[in-house]
Amino acid sequence: MQDALGGVQTVLVLGGASEIALATLRKLIAQRTRTVVLAARAPDALVSVVDELRQLGATRVETVRFDATDTASHEAFVDDVVDRVGDIDLALLAWGVLGDQAEAERHSAAATEIATVNYLGAVSVGVPLAARLREQGHGLIVALSSVAGERARGSNFIYGSSKAGFDAFFQGLGDSLVGTGVRVMIVRPGFVHTKMTEGLEPAPLATTPEAVADAIVRGIERGSEVIWVPSVMRFVMSGLRHVPRALFRKLPV
Ligand SMILES: NC(=O)c1ccc[n+]([C@@H]2O[C@H](COP(=O)([O-])OP(=O)(O)OC[C@H]3O[C@@H](n4cnc5c(N)ncnc54)[C@H](OP(=O)(O)O)[C@@H]3O)[C@@H](O)[C@H]2O)c1
Repeated sequence: MQDALGGVQTVLVLGGASEIALATLRKLIAQRTRTVVLAARAPDALVSVVDELRQLGATRVETVRFDATDTASHEAFVDDVVDRVGDIDLALLAWGVLGDQAEAERHSAAATEIATVNYLGAVSVGVPLAARLREQGHGLIVALSSVAGERARGSNFIYGSSKAGFDAFFQGLGDSLVGTGVRVMIVRPGFVHTKMTEGLEPAPLATTPEAVADAIVRGIERGSEVIWVPSVMRFVMSGLRHVPRALFRKLPV
């Protein structure tokens, strides 16, 4: 439930071990968040995270199993979370895989795994989640998209296309929820130093999970609908979107 000042008290994180999500939780708990549900593929591996969040001031931290590919379980998963903790003020959608593009270009199983985790899983859990938030009449969905979805690159188009689908889904969902009390905020980071990008050459304007978390908290306070991290990415991607394809192919992006 939100407190009397409208602060975020209860947070559900899908992708409970995401470094961006954990950086965001640290900041939210420093404000008013007291109840956290971490939903992850391996909830038992989150013991030290649970301890840390409790030490920071969360009074209730629960872990539940969530696998984005297990689409048949998603409606029951959402019901179970709401039965456990009641109203959800903020759902942070932070799971995802970058995948191995070279492998995915050769094997459809690798390509469909990326699409299933990042896009199909989002549609599958996004629908019952939005339905429950609509019923409670308030709540915010923060959806971690990516600049990669703004214009797919030849070197990363399988991940990029999955994020484009994810992004479009949450844009449309946000529009469909206008007037219900529920909102969607889409987050489009560039390259972030996390375990997802470990070992990769950092892209220009690379940033940190803490910077993304700061931007998310600021976006929540401002009631933003879309945020870019760093914010200059808005202008970079707006330019790149219109670069002629023949030239775009030659850019080192
Ligand atoms: N890092 C970047 O450069 C960057 C840039 C733009 C957008 N993003 C997006 O930001 C979000 C968070 O990424 P991050 O950088 O924080 O990476 P991260 O630390 O690797 O977190 C991603 C999480 O997704 C979880 N996950 C993977 N497959 C899953 C599945 N089938 N079901 C449920 N959970 C699954 C992973 O769980 P396990 O711990 O079980 O592996 C991991 O905890 C992702 O959506 C990512 O696409 C990241």
